[in-house]
Amino acid sequence: MKIAIIGTGQVGISLAKGWAKAGHEIYLGLKKLNTQKLQTVLNLNERIVVRLIPDAVIESNIIVMAMPPESVKEISELVGEIRDKVVIDTINSIMNYPEPYYSTAEAIKAWTGCERIIKCFNTTGVENLSNPLYDNSKIDTFMAGDNEDDKMIVKQLAYDLGFEECYDCGGFDKIPLLESMALFWMNLAFMQGYGPDIGLKVLQRGFPR
Ligand SMILES: NC(=O)c1ccc[n+]([C@@H]2O[C@H](COP(=O)([O-])OP(=O)(O)OC[C@H]3O[C@@H](n4cnc5c(N)ncnc54)[C@H](OP(=O)(O)O)[C@@H]3O)[C@@H](O)[C@H]2O)c1
Repeated sequence: MKIAIIGTGQVGISLAKGWAKAGHEIYLGLKKLNTQKLQTVLNLNERIVVRLIPDAVIESNIIVMAMPPESVKEISELVGEIRDKVVIDTINSIMNYPEPYYSTAEAIKAWTGCERIIKCFNTTGVENLSNPLYDNSKIDTFMAGDNEDDKMIVKQLAYDLGFEECYDCGGFDKIPLLESMALFWMNLAFMQGYGPDIGLKVLQRGFPR
């Protein structure tokens, strides 16, 4: 797949590396073409290139939003026409909502007109996005959104990162659950002191994958 990643911090770069390793073509979207701080990652994999944000978006069929919530308005205006693309929203607002909207997914939908938004990869830390393997077990991840075909794409992208399963938590209306889940994970990792090398796994009886 051709994937544009907007936000080239910890999450954006982890996802870029994982998906490039799995064979996807990655377009890191920048506001200015300053590649200096990204040089190491660019040297690591020829499938990762940088573009200005609108060009990264044009090249790609998947757009990953991995920037802070306060940038959502600006990025929504910069991306251009994205109604035919799948948007993966990884952003956690944590009391920093893109007003007047309560969630970044709602804001992206309203400001870009794109209905194909899937929330995913927000419920765990960057350590787990980089490496979902714990001894001999892989942890799970979770998604929500309205388009079933798009969810199949995101599920495959989760497998490509090494997650065991990407549970479908339901439609767009279930996105707040995933945001609460991110807070739940952060509480365990940071407030309760278990540390970021902690991951969630669902056990299930008698339901085929
Ligand atoms: N860290 C985690 O474990 C984790 C896990 C799941 C989800 N998330 C969510 O993922 C998002 C990114 O987190 P992160 O930890 O990767 O943050 P980060 O390391 O601080 O990176 C944020 C990136 O967004 C870029 N950015 C900020 N404003 C921008 C704008 N207006 N246009 C384009 N790029 C912009 C920054 O660029 P500059 O460096 O040039 O400022 C930086 O590359 C957040 O919303 C967070 O809630 C984080």
